[in-house]
Amino acid sequence: MDVRQQMDDLIEKLNAYNEAYYQQNTSLISDQAFDLLVKELQKLEAENPLFANPNSPTQRVGGSITKSFASVTHQFPMLSLGNTYNAQDLQDFDERIRKTLGEEAFEYICELKFDGVALSFWYQNGQLIKGVTRGDGTRGDDITNNVKTIKSLPIRLQSKTFPESFEIRGEGYMPLPSFEQINEEKIAKGEAPLANPRNAASGTFKMQDSGEVAKRNMECFVYAYLGTENPFQTHEVSLNYLASQKFPVSPTWRKCGTITEVLQYIEDWAEKRHELPLHTDGIVIKVNDFGQQERLGYTAKSPRWAISFKYPSEIAKTTIEHISYQVGRTGNITPVANLKPVYLAGTVIKRASIHNANEMERLDLRIGDHVFIEKGGEIIPKITGVDESTRKPGALLFSFPTHCPDCGSQLVRMEGEANHYCLNDANCPPQIKGKIEHFIQRKALNIENLGVETIDLLFEKGIVCQIADLYDLNSERFLGLEGFQTKSIQNILSAIEKSKSIPFRQVLFGLGIRHVGATIAEKLVLQFHSIENLQAASFEELIAVPEIGERIALSVQEYFSKETNLDTLSRLKAAGIQLSEEITEIVLEGTHLVGKSFVISGVFKNFERDELKAKITAHGGKVVSSISAKLDYLVAGDQMGPAKLEKANQLSIKIIREEEFIQMLN
Ligand code: IVH
Repeated sequence: MDVRQQMDDLIEKLNAYNEAYYQQNTSLISDQAFDLLVKELQKLEAENPLFANPNSPTQRVGGSITKSFASVTHQFPMLSLGNTYNAQDLQDFDERIRKTLGEEAFEYICELKFDGVALSFWYQNGQLIKGVTRGDGTRGDDITNNVKTIKSLPIRLQSKTFPESFEIRGEGYMPLPSFEQINEEKIAKGEAPLANPRNAASGTFKMQDSGEVAKRNMECFVYAYLGTENPFQTHEVSLNYLASQKFPVSPTWRKCGTITEVLQYIEDWAEKRHELPLHTDGIVIKVNDFGQQERLGYTAKSPRWAISFKYPSEIAKTTIEHISYQVGRTGNITPVANLKPVYLAGTVIKRASIHNANEMERLDLRIGDHVFIEKGGEIIPKITGVDESTRKPGALLFSFPTHCPDCGSQLVRMEGEANHYCLNDANCPPQIKGKIEHFIQRKALNIENLGVETIDLLFEKGIVCQIADLYDLNSERFLGLEGFQTKSIQNILSAIEKSKSIPFRQVLFGLGIRHVGATIAEKLVLQFHSIENLQAASFEELIAVPEIGERIALSVQEYFSKETNLDTLSRLKAAGIQLSEEITEIVLEGTHLVGKSFVISGVFKNFERDELKAKITAHGGKVVSSISAKLDYLVAGDQMGPAKLEKANQLSIKIIREEEFIQMLN
């Protein structure tokens, strides 16, 4: 094999391992073997710089190429639970308990089974000292910094009644609103969305940069106390105590005397659980008394004193009738499976997204295939697999189209991209309509009162054929269109007028440049200030901006290379849209507070609150509004709120008085 081939093979392998590890959370290779392969590739790259490949995992920044979490041995193995699926299984479980406990009375505690990542939190002398993943049950990854971003998890305990050292177990999760927001942003950037909240949570807790983890608002529910010293008699008492000490205990648990009561709990939560901010896939039934738990003991894999009950699975099987291809606003083509309608978790499913050609290839979909449909918590159900046993021999593969289903232009798949694109953005109807809808959304030009149906209508009538046409609208243009009252027309026109004062960063996002989501737009505006500067920026200048990579830089340059876009921009400018933003550069009075964050609370002698805030920023510090584990200082004035003080104490945040603050400035 020649060197180049050898390098390409290594890259492909490493990328596949990385993807399995970071996206699917499965380790296909040991850490040592992985690191050896990376070293081998680095060596070949150093010896053969001509063959360097930008796709190489060695080119990635940060820690994402090595799996560098320390491995930690659990003090108590992290076991799993036996599963039950019906009342009979539960009666059998109950029977087994009775056999061991004999005549003794006992109770159960029922809890929801949270569908996230099992985590173990170690406390010593009242401090959270470690956060560890389950790993293989015996050893897990030390992800303490990531765990510390969970705002509801106490880092320092007030109570002195806890033993010197103990462990709390719980489930880490990504709240559904965060999950949905991240996916919205990913889709806006043209990236593949995260598969489901559980994968999202395990991927996030394994990120190398805890700053990134913090942005994702991770949460947890705790469900067990463990320790060589156990001050509690029952699980119930431990849950109540943990809750009183501000541990995030979900209040959804219930004490049950009999299996009949357990079945009632199961029924009560069957639907209600969908209202929670995380997925639950069943319930966990635990014997309440710790002494009885000990007597019941463990099998090699799971405790005999607990079992889980799984709600009926939300998977269905059906046939693919055909695949249609949807064109998104950036020209990205999404294959959508049209299914023989099937009933699944309360709704009839007729369509499922297949995301992109990679996913189609992975599923190896053939015409007439029977497929499994799963409804995680995502709104759109997904095809998770094919029932190959029912596939007819010689069934033909679905093939990705070569031309746009809407406008007929040839599709293009860029190097390294999962998506195919239709590049005819100026004339392809779904792209044009999609761009207008993107432009008017709240995070962009926020033109309320102009719904999707109105856009469709205005487009079909040839009145609004691109975003700049919105600013030529007047009441005459609505003449003869059905369903518009004078009042609603006025509302639309005044919303359009109001959009002229929307800041440039939102306008830039609204332009819908491929890969330029709201965050990237903000970064570009902070750097370049005006559309003219952005247009004039060279490729090198673009990629020099933090977080702007080659893909985004190319996309920005491509946007400005098109005559139609330049025409749109000059019309927007003429209409009075904000295409520049004044960025006031702060001249620092001092640098003593650089990198430090402050919360201000109370009343001060020498400063008004705004003055104090200004002082902090003028010395390079940051003022934040709420106390979190990452906060550096709480500046305490008179009449400070007791809740803030308690929270700061709990998180061992440094509390300073006004005088100390003034000293810090000097
Ligand atoms: S108690 C010995 N309680 O389910 C295991 N586990 O299959 C004791 N889980 O890895 C676990 N919610 O991550 C317990 N209320 C709950 C739970 C729960 C979710 C997860 C946990 C564990 C898995 C067991």
